[in-house]
Amino acid sequence: MSDRGALIHRNLRRPPPFAAGGEGVFLIGRDGKKYLDGSSGAVVSCLGHQHPDVLAAMDAQLRKLAFAHNAFFTSEAAETLAAKLCGAAPGNLNHALFVSGGSEAVEAAMKIARQFFVERGEPKRVKFIARRQSYHGATLAALSVGHHEARREMYRPMLLPAEAVSPAYGYRHRGEGEGEEQYAKRLAAELAATIERCGADSVAAFIAETVSGASLGAVTAPAAYFREVRKVCDRYGVLLIADEIMCGMGRCGQRFAFTIEGIVPDLVCLAKALGGGYAPIGAVLADGKIIDAITNGSGMLGHGHTYLCHPLAAAAALAVHEVVERDSLIARARRRGALLGEIFRHELGDHPSVGDIRGRGLFIGIELVRDKTAKQPFTPAGQLTGIVQRCAMERGMLCYPANGCADGRNGDAIIIAPPYIISESQCGDLAARTVAAIFDALNTVA
Ligand SMILES: Cc1ncc(COP(=O)(O)O)c(C=O)c1O
Repeated sequence: MSDRGALIHRNLRRPPPFAAGGEGVFLIGRDGKKYLDGSSGAVVSCLGHQHPDVLAAMDAQLRKLAFAHNAFFTSEAAETLAAKLCGAAPGNLNHALFVSGGSEAVEAAMKIARQFFVERGEPKRVKFIARRQSYHGATLAALSVGHHEARREMYRPMLLPAEAVSPAYGYRHRGEGEGEEQYAKRLAAELAATIERCGADSVAAFIAETVSGASLGAVTAPAAYFREVRKVCDRYGVLLIADEIMCGMGRCGQRFAFTIEGIVPDLVCLAKALGGGYAPIGAVLADGKIIDAITNGSGMLGHGHTYLCHPLAAAAALAVHEVVERDSLIARARRRGALLGEIFRHELGDHPSVGDIRGRGLFIGIELVRDKTAKQPFTPAGQLTGIVQRCAMERGMLCYPANGCADGRNGDAIIIAPPYIISESQCGDLAARTVAAIFDALNTVA
């Protein structure tokens, strides 16, 4: 074996430092260096690290029952978590399935959508429509519907066919003099035209991130967008899947980001802040009509994994949910997000390389551009965000790179999304380190 060690890292030439501990909003390296977790890892750790109440709940679950296979048993933890999530969800989202992460949630949602139409006698509905520069996960079907070109490139010959429409990305694509509502209607008309081109009876679902994350960098849709999209989906009998894996579970100041959009999707994908990093867990919430169709049809879900509805993961997510509720952390995320946004606009708003500061709740995107007037991205494609990330780590802070935002290859945004427990003074510290890291990185590409 080489001196690299046996573990395969994302960056095989530059393995990451060891994390040895965590404490609230900080991660602690093996060398003792503290990192302010300004992005909750990949927008995951909503309660920060080593939260005692979550650890206690997991410990209790482990001592009771670590695992029982879902084909043989259910568990109290999974049943309770499903009841709580569905109880908190609006509309008819009254069923939940638990998987092991975000990509699995998207795969499951796609397969449930497909099964719904098969059970209803509409087996021609096999097509999925998504938006360009979206990210829905790394497994092959999720990657197929995510239209982030840089991430798809190597695997393109292996991907499923999937249709793409324009992202809802006002900073770059709203026309001069075009109002928000007009822009939303234009995008909805494009979706309708795409459904018609595909053949309306062949489309199963439209999938979209309610607030776009990993590839656009915390981009909210124009106000009327999701209402218009909902109308189009209803007109053609197409299911609407909201991917809230990154933006949901309180991150944007609402438990479900779609509530602010005035719609209820048919399927909702969750992960990340669902388990807060304490256990690998994702979820699909489904409208009752979908589960009724399957129950009254074959009666068997066609999809499954060994770790569906894992009791320990469910207990962790349940504890996260209860702490978030008990400590009113979603309202706190709204307040801290407003504060951070204000600081960033004050410190960076006029900077010639800061094109846009955006987001919702504790989900903030900062897009960096070479030319502010022309909104021209930096070159070489997508490397600046990586440099910001490295500079931030040198300064003892984590931020999340969203590269390729402009067109799937070019464009640099960073996401700031700290744990909901962050204090006001820590917000000041986080903002100062972020600004310094951005300036460090810009100096290297100047
Ligand atoms: C919106 C969205 N969907 C899906 C995924 C995939 O989730 P996972 O990495 O847990 O498989 C991500 C991950 O960043 C995401 O942001």
